[in-house]
Amino acid sequence: MSNVKDFFKKIGHGIKVVYDKITMTSNAVIDTSGDNPPIEHQEGNMLEVNNLRQYFPIKAGFFKRTVGYVKAVDGVTFNIKKGTTMGLVGESGCGKTTTGRTILRLYKKTSGQVLVDGEDVYKIKNIRKYRPNMQIVFQDPYSSLSPRMPVAEIIGEAVKEHKIVPKAEFEDYITKVMNDCGLPEYYKQRYPHEFSGGQRQRICIARALALKPKLVICDEPVSALDVSIQAQVINLFKDLQEKYGFTYLFISHDLSVVEHISDQVGVMYLGNLVEYAQTDELFKHPAHPYTEALFSAIPIPDPNVKMNRIILEGTIPSPANPPRGCKFHTRCSKCMGICKKCVPPQLEISEGHFVSCFLYIDEDKKKEMEEEFDINEAKRLEEERIKEQKNFILKLKKKLKRKKNNSNGNIEDSETTEEIEDTIKDSEDSVETYISDLEKK
Ligand SMILES: Nc1ncnc2c1ncn2[C@@H]1O[C@H](COP(=O)(O)OP(=O)(O)OP(=O)(O)O)[C@@H](O)[C@H]1O
Ligand code: SF4
Ligand SMILES: [Mg+2]
Repeated sequence: MSNVKDFFKKIGHGIKVVYDKITMTSNAVIDTSGDNPPIEHQEGNMLEVNNLRQYFPIKAGFFKRTVGYVKAVDGVTFNIKKGTTMGLVGESGCGKTTTGRTILRLYKKTSGQVLVDGEDVYKIKNIRKYRPNMQIVFQDPYSSLSPRMPVAEIIGEAVKEHKIVPKAEFEDYITKVMNDCGLPEYYKQRYPHEFSGGQRQRICIARALALKPKLVICDEPVSALDVSIQAQVINLFKDLQEKYGFTYLFISHDLSVVEHISDQVGVMYLGNLVEYAQTDELFKHPAHPYTEALFSAIPIPDPNVKMNRIILEGTIPSPANPPRGCKFHTRCSKCMGICKKCVPPQLEISEGHFVSCFLYIDEDKKKEMEEEFDINEAKRLEEERIKEQKNFILKLKKKLKRKKNNSNGNIEDSETTEEIEDTIKDSEDSVETYISDLEKK
């Protein structure tokens, strides 16, 4: 009986291995070359993000093979100091939410490093236990609140589970958190549907901040609210930060909101952080052509000042097939030859002002990068040529074999076996020449 069991176990295992091989084999390769080396924690930083990538696989075909990747976050690097706010802006689909969620380990990162208060988030064994330290406030306060729970329970559920305060202090603590967030005590037994949008967002904020988090990711927390309520909620965030020293990553597409709340601002384009600096510096001296275009759209409340709005041509390219070199080159009016070839490195152009653009790289460095690119490109083309030639030889050999097996001449082909053999010989010679050329490069 046990032999029969073993037999079926073995067959099952064999089928699984074959299935895994078919489904796991991917035509798409993740290129993480050029990754930064791991970073060390710097005192005073609450969040340190080093070359973070989040690629989502694109599956196709019957066996759902991975045929490519949506490069939602493609090598993002920045730091946030303790008790400060970093705003993250950029067009829809540029990867702001994915950056936030990958930092919180809600996705499995593709590569890179995330340190929260010096601790590598992706190396933490019990992430559930660590969760209170990293909280998120979502855009839509209604869908993120359970409609069947009264407010006190919504705010207190995780406080209880993670034993944030001793049992005896629990009730007072919830009352205090509610008061801090502008929610009177008598709201405790009310349900989410009994509140306005602004009040619901206050409940979400209270729920997150009750856990005394080290880092709070605010993903468009005021976008769903009307303007007057927006101001109240933003001021609430600021007041709580002043009182308790919270650190925020504030995601928004509203530049005036970001300017008001942030100490520093990062600008994202197609999965990359193209520029980041202190808020004043960035708004006064935007350096990257994309930031310039984005900021030129901010209305100036003065009828005598003419707006110099920069209209970007075309639409944002697909993150599944981003342009080579600088991803912004297809829409940049200052695009140069090198921009279509090489990825611009991140450069500190003044203290704390980082920008990824060839306009700020010196000529010698650009020349060196372009030369290196040309050599690597020539090698790549040569390797492709060798691969093509080898495939051609393989096909000829098959043809020759078939021809020899069909000596009665069934194959309708005017070529003789000698001619095919000659072509194979010539092709093999040229492959050898290509290989020796490649070795010389
Ligand atoms: N789970 C997922 N699977 C596959 N692709 C995804 C997934 N989540 C996001 N994407 C893709 O990643 C890219 C970035 O999405 P993300 O939601 O991070 O953008 P965003 O900057 O937050 O946009 P918005 O301002 O509209 O909220 C988009 O192209 C999106 O389609
Ligand atoms: S690197 Fe080139 S294409 Fe990219 S933003 Fe700078 S100038 Fe424009
Ligand atoms: Mg988003």
